[in-house]
Parts: sequence; structure tokens; C-alpha cells
Amino acid sequence: MTIVRPDRAHPGRTAAGTRRDTSAGPSEQTGGMTTFTSVTVLGAGVLGTQIALQTARHDVPVVVYDISDDAVAAGRERLSGIVEQYLGDVGEGERPAAEAAVARITFATDLAEAVAGAGLVVEAVPERLDLKREVYARLAEVAPADTVFATNSSTLLPSAIADATGRPDRFLALHFANHVWRQNTAEVMGTEQTDPAVFDRVATFAEEIGMVPIRLRKEQPGYVLNSLLVPLLDAAAGLVLRGVADPETVDTTWRIGTGAPLGPFQIYDVIGLRTAYAVASASPEPGAQAWAEHLRTEYLEQGRFGVESGEGFYRYR
Ligand SMILES: NC(=O)c1ccc[n+]([C@@H]2O[C@H](COP(=O)([O-])OP(=O)(O)OC[C@H]3O[C@@H](n4cnc5c(N)ncnc54)[C@H](O)[C@@H]3O)[C@@H](O)[C@H]2O)c1
Repeated sequence: MTIVRPDRAHPGRTAAGTRRDTSAGPSEQTGGMTTFTSVTVLGAGVLGTQIALQTARHDVPVVVYDISDDAVAAGRERLSGIVEQYLGDVGEGERPAAEAAVARITFATDLAEAVAGAGLVVEAVPERLDLKREVYARLAEVAPADTVFATNSSTLLPSAIADATGRPDRFLALHFANHVWRQNTAEVMGTEQTDPAVFDRVATFAEEIGMVPIRLRKEQPGYVLNSLLVPLLDAAAGLVLRGVADPETVDTTWRIGTGAPLGPFQIYDVIGLRTAYAVASASPEPGAQAWAEHLRTEYLEQGRFGVESGEGFYRYR
């Protein structure tokens, strides 16, 4: 089995020069055993199913918990779709390994059963503080005392949840990005109460399952990636809205000036303009409202959603 490791000289890139995680199977550094040997994922949604697949591809059995039989059925179907997306990226040759990974994933609707043997629980339930706190309060009652809890929340700080977990020393954020196997950063962010040994174990585990762990030394809304990306995208939107330059000019400037492969509007197209609209329209900033309106009238109403629909700021077909 070939394990392609992240190239430490270029974090985020593999030795083969691609950022994609093509590794499979448990880490060599642990002699075939990963730091956590069984994982439970809460929420069979977009991220939960991807995290489950990524973990199971590295030989770790995964239980995916969701609230109802219907949610589990939807999760199974979503997982099948995620497998096809993954194979579209890495090639059909990986199908047997992907199928073996899927066979290591089981679904459950009973929380106590789902977490009974879990060394690590990764929570990927909807992004609502009240809901997450409620989920952790129930989890705290049924999970083994030494199980580590990690939230995949994109926007909530773990310190806002820590007291609900009943084990703030064994709780932190482990943030995966959409398309986990391709955008394979795992931002690891504790609170002041997180045990440093737990932080290290989670970061090590992330690496064992083919991620590039990004260790944050303190809490930061948006972690590292979105702390950089969001101001860039906002500034790009402002330049277009104020009529300073068109999207292509902004992107060309950014690519030539920094050597980056994509400009901000190409990134918008990848993220998807419906997501960009949802974020902008929920923001209290006056500039954000104007940007939401621009996206709605100029793009969404014409069916231009970005790469996913074949057209956004650019054409893809
Ligand atoms: N979608 C993304 O691109 C993305 C990227 C990074 C991080 N995240 C984070 O991941 C988390 C989940 O996001 P998502 O996009 O996968 O959401 P989603 O809506 O696709 O999935 C959420 C899942 O949680 C289930 N759920 C609802 N209540 C639950 C409960 N009480 N217990 C267990 N499961 C429950 C739902 O049935 C659903 O299957 C959020 O915190 C989000 O910030 C999302």
C-alpha cells in the first residue's frame, strides 16, 4: 500500500505535488493503529458523511448517528453521492477501497448505542448554538467518561459549548472543510480548558486519517482559513460593487500579483453563489446587503450558481 504523506515543506501539498489526500489505511507511525480506533460522527449531513468516509478510508470503524430513520436513510443516500464525488476526483481505481470503507460505516439512531465504544465523537449537527449545546448535554450523559468530543462547527467558538459537554478538558474543535479528501485541512482549536494532551491526540489522529492538521494556539472565529479568506472575498466584492474593476480584472490582478492559482471570484464560484448569498444576506453589514442583492439579481435569478450549475462569474461548460 502506498501512503502519500503531506509534504512538510509545503503544508497542504503531498509529496506527489497535489493537495489531494490519496492515502488510505492506518498510519505507519502508529504501527497500523490510529490514535482513536473507533469514531462516532453525530449528524449524517454534508460534512458528517464526508468525515465518516475519510475516517473509514483509513481503516477506522465509524458509527454515524442521526435523529431518525428518515435522517439515516437520507444520510446513506448522501454517503453514496459523496463516494461518487470522491471517485470522480481520485479515479475509478479506488472504488474497491471506497466500498470497503463504506462497509466500515454503520448508522444508528440510538445515541447511547452509537457512542458506547467511541474513543472520539465528531459532532457535525446543524450550526445552531442552542441545538449543539442540547446535543452535548445528552451526549455527556451517555458517552464513556474518557471519550473525546470534537465539534466541526465553522462559526461557533468551542468555549461557547464547553460547559455543556461535562468534560471541557476533553473537548475542542476539529474543523474539516467541504470536500474533506481534497481540501484536506483539519483545523484543531481548543479552549483554555482543553487538555494539551487531548489536543495533541486529536491533531495526530487528523494526520493519521490523511488530513493536514492546522494547530491553532488560541480561539479564533473563522479559524485560520476563513480569517484570511473572508476579508479577501469581501474586499473583492467591494471593488466590483463600487465599480472600481470587474471580476476578471480583480482575479487577474490577484493571480499575477500573488501567484495564487485562483482569484477571489473564481473562489466564489467554487464555494457556490447560493452559499455566498446566504452568508451576505444574513450579515448586518450594509455592504453585505448590497452584495447579496447584486448576487440575487445578477446571478441567482439567471440560474448562475457557480461551478455547480456550470456558470457563475465564469462559464464552466
Ligand atoms: N457544509 C459545509 O460546507 C461545512 C463545512 C465545514 C464545517 N461545517 C459544519 O459542519 C456542521 C454540519 O454542517 P452540515 O453542512 O453537514 O449540515 P447538514 O445540514 O448537511 O447536516 C446536519 C445533519 O445533522 C442532523 N441532525 C439534526 N439534529 C441532530 C441532532 N440533534 N443530533 C444528531 N444529528 C442531528 C441532520 O438530520 C443532518 O443530517 C456545522 O457545524 C457546520 O458549521 C459545514
